[in-house]
Amino acid sequence: MVLLTSLALLAIGLVGGAVIGLHPAITVLLVAAVVVTSIVSLVRSGRRRGDAQRPSATGTIARFGLSAIVVLTVIQVVPYGREHSNPPVAMEPAWSTPETRELMVRACFGCHSNEVMWPTYSNIAPFSWAVTQHVQEGRDEINYSEFGSGKEDDDTIETILEGDMPPGYYTVFGLHPEANLTGTEVDALVAGLRDTPGFVEDDG
Ligand code: HEC
Repeated sequence: MVLLTSLALLAIGLVGGAVIGLHPAITVLLVAAVVVTSIVSLVRSGRRRGDAQRPSATGTIARFGLSAIVVLTVIQVVPYGREHSNPPVAMEPAWSTPETRELMVRACFGCHSNEVMWPTYSNIAPFSWAVTQHVQEGRDEINYSEFGSGKEDDDTIETILEGDMPPGYYTVFGLHPEANLTGTEVDALVAGLRDTPGFVEDDG
C-alpha cells in the first residue's frame, strides 16, 4: 500500500514537475521527502497502536497529504529562488522596428532579459526554484538586455522558427498568454529580427 502510493506520488510528481519545468532531480527529492515523512509517521502511529492492525488506506493517504503540507511548509525557508534580480539594462539589440522589440518583450523577456516581471508565485517554493532556474539558464544562454554591439547570435531566429521558445511550461495553464504569438506575429518577429543587426541565421 505504502509502496504503491509512493510510486504513484513519484509518477504524479515527475509529470507535475515537468509541467512547471522543475528539475527532475529536485522533484524526486521533494517526493522522497514526502514519502519518508509519511513512512516515519505511519511507523510511529503503528507503534502507538501496538501494531494491532495495519493502517487503513484512507489513513495512509491522509498521512501522505499531511506530509506533503509539512514538506511544502519546510521548504519555504530555503533561500534559493527568493532573490529576484534585475540588473541594469546594458545594451539591447538595435531593434529594426518597435514591434520587433514588443514581440520579443512579450515572448522572451520573461527569461532572457534584465526586465523580468517576477510573478507572485515566484515567491513560493518550489515554483520559486523553477522560475529562478529558468531565468538564470535563459540569461546564461542569451540576454537581450546585455546584447552588446558586434555580438552575433545565430540561435534566436532558428529557435523561433522551430517553435522551441518560449518553453511549453511558460504558457501552460493559461500562464503568460501574451507570450503565445500567433502565426502572423511570429512571421513579423522573424522578419523584424532579420533586419536587426546582430541576428544571423544558421543555415546548418
Ligand atoms: C520560461 C523562460 C523562457 C522564455 C520565456 C524563453 N526562453 Fe529561451 N531559453 C530558456 C532556457 C531555460 C534556455 C536554456 C535551456 C534550453 O535550451 O531549453 C533557453 C534557451 C534559449 C536559446 C538558446 C537555445 C540554443 O539551442 O542554443 C535561445 C536562442 C532562446 N532561448 C531564445 C528565446 C526566444 C527568442 C524566446 C522568445 C520567443 C525565448 N527564448 C523565451 C528559457 C526561456
